[in-house]
Amino acid sequence: MASYDVIIIGSGPGGYVSAIRCAQLGLKTACVEGRETLGGTCLNVGCIPSKALLHATEMLHEAEHNFADMGLKGKTPSVDWDAMLAYKDKTVGQNTGGIEFLFKKNKVDWLKGWGSIPAAGKVKVGDEVHEAKNIIIATGSEPSPLKGVEVDEETVVTSTGALKLKKIPKSLVVIGGGVIGLELGSVYARLGAEVTVVEYLDGITPGQDAEIARQFQKLLTKQGMKFVLGAAVQGVEVKNKKATVTYKMRKDDSEDSITAETVLLSTGRKPFTDGLGLSDLGVKMAERGQIEIDGAYKTSVDGIYAIGDAVAGPMLAHKAEDEGMAVAEGLAGQKPHVNYDVIPSVIYTHPEVASVGMTEEVLKKAERKYKVGKFPFMGNARAKANHSGDGLVKILADAETDRILGAHIVGPMAGDLIHEICVAMEFGAAAEDLARTCHAHPTYSEAVREAALACGDGAIHA
Ligand code: NAI
Repeated sequence: MASYDVIIIGSGPGGYVSAIRCAQLGLKTACVEGRETLGGTCLNVGCIPSKALLHATEMLHEAEHNFADMGLKGKTPSVDWDAMLAYKDKTVGQNTGGIEFLFKKNKVDWLKGWGSIPAAGKVKVGDEVHEAKNIIIATGSEPSPLKGVEVDEETVVTSTGALKLKKIPKSLVVIGGGVIGLELGSVYARLGAEVTVVEYLDGITPGQDAEIARQFQKLLTKQGMKFVLGAAVQGVEVKNKKATVTYKMRKDDSEDSITAETVLLSTGRKPFTDGLGLSDLGVKMAERGQIEIDGAYKTSVDGIYAIGDAVAGPMLAHKAEDEGMAVAEGLAGQKPHVNYDVIPSVIYTHPEVASVGMTEEVLKKAERKYKVGKFPFMGNARAKANHSGDGLVKILADAETDRILGAHIVGPMAGDLIHEICVAMEFGAAAEDLARTCHAHPTYSEAVREAALACGDGAIHA
């Protein structure tokens, strides 16, 4: 048994970042993790492995579609699936190993095993009970089940199974046109699978600025992905290693079905808090299974805190990281603050989609007066040279003050470009501030400046 200032349960981006920050601030810290490697869902079976497959297949797509045009002639690479999976696993290993190194460097103890909280101030791992002045729950989330759909992680998979399929399927049905479905769907589409996305709503990526979502869907359709919208999936039946997905069209209740080699269930995730013993402790939970917290991330029980996917808010690694740092700083007596109005979100398809702040739909609903500045990547010299002219930057600014209220990008490196706007929003900048900032030529970021110029007297290259 050991005694700590802080024990964090879970080593995903929320947990491990929090552990490092606690240790940096002088707190004696341990982190409980039951997996063989640190890093949680994100590093092991989420963000990182999916990005490796996205990158590899994007390179393939470039070779197949754009190499000849650039004078790069010759045989297009063929796919060695096992080698591609090995590259993905190597990437994961480098990242999870990196966290282990950082734990050692910062003197964070890794308590190996699954943790539970027998009482406030105590964390049980295996047969040992450790003492902790403060406990931070950072246990993340797991895929939500869907009625009528039984996941076997071979024919019917969640994102976890989709990252290690035994072979590339000829056909894939994706249930749910959200982030996971579109990222992994586009991986397999680029590898030659016929991919059909069945989505309940009338558009993909709910919550996204509708104009950007429509553009994005057009681009994915151009890449060969098919969409059945307004369709509620009723169930999946597996026979002879083929899966038939039945769905009901919401507009007229008509039923239809589609058969494929593999089905990906990606209809959202839910907090993972099983086995912690929270109900016995009296920790209050919200209706959708999230742990209730106050402004300082404290649960209804003194000394127990919670962050990341296990609490309310967007289920994003970087939101969890920010909360992980904030809770650590709070415990160390600082006065941290997370600005929930400026949390970017990115879909790592090709092109990428990135957004921050309010969408046009939200502004309309709030009856805010706003102006829109848009700029297509077709007008950006660098994008044209790089076969990346698809997409646009859209900036929304207050009609009177010109303050930036939101930005939405579909296009090359959107996930990196968005941060210029995040920083501007953190400083309460006006669109004119961005427009008057010199941007190097030729870069994709000039498209951001042009959209900012379009909020004023007009873009130059449109
Ligand atoms: P999601 O919430 O993004 O999308 C789920 C989709 O499934 C929605 O469009 C919903 O309308 C649809 N749906 C629900 N029930 C349905 C039914 N019966 N039939 C047809 N469609 C149905 O969830 P997703 O993609 O599973 O991702 C889970 C979480 O993981 C999200 O919160 C996401 O933010 C996070 N994530 C983030 C990534 C990123 O930031 N790049 C990458 C992967 C995951």
